[in-house]
Amino acid sequence: MSHAPSTDEAPEPGASGRRPRKVVVLVSGSGTLLQALLDASAADPACGYSVVGVLADRADAYGLARARAAGVATAVVALRDFPDRTTWDEAVVRAVEAFAPDLVVLAGFMKILGAPFLTRFGDRTINTHPALLPSFPGAHGVADALAYGVKITGSTVIFVDEGTDSGPIVAQRPVLVEDGDDEETLHERIKVVERALLVEVVGRMAREGWTVTDRKVTLG
Ligand code: GAR
Repeated sequence: MSHAPSTDEAPEPGASGRRPRKVVVLVSGSGTLLQALLDASAADPACGYSVVGVLADRADAYGLARARAAGVATAVVALRDFPDRTTWDEAVVRAVEAFAPDLVVLAGFMKILGAPFLTRFGDRTINTHPALLPSFPGAHGVADALAYGVKITGSTVIFVDEGTDSGPIVAQRPVLVEDGDDEETLHERIKVVERALLVEVVGRMAREGWTVTDRKVTLG
């Protein structure tokens, strides 16, 4: 699968002579990764992307407040408001579709997305995970790495697929585990690295496009 940076719509000239790629961010919690994306695009209009929408699966996700403060449209699609996972998933698709994204970023989104979402957006949805995949997938990547006793962990950006954190790897960056680390201290250091990595990856995907051949992801 291959994505050129500009294809489907007429360009709106900006600093780079091309319209920014539209990014939708999905969050469940505090949204510091989202904030990094917002700050980077505000600081550099030529970064290549613009966050056009933020969706949360819970109304109290602080990421929603960050989006509103930045003037970005928001949507809440809570699983408990739907009779089953498939209808919830379909509602997420509709909400994301309304923003017509070029790229969807899961940034601390703690729900697994199913077939309806993957069919529609799987070719353009990335997730960031606080461990070096394929080690320590799932919702407790930091605690699991710590419990295993690894000396190096880190951050991984992947394409989303039908498995749990099992999609093609876009980028990875290491973080050393220090004596005395607990889950909180280690996760905070990983998140510093994660924010920078995500900003870099989203910018490059927006500006340069990407290709996925088997499991190998190439940017540019
Ligand atoms: C990040 O560390 C992200 O990798 C993780 O949640 C945190 C969100 O931080 N996501 C997962 O663990 C998904 N399996 P934030 O709310 O401060 O942006």
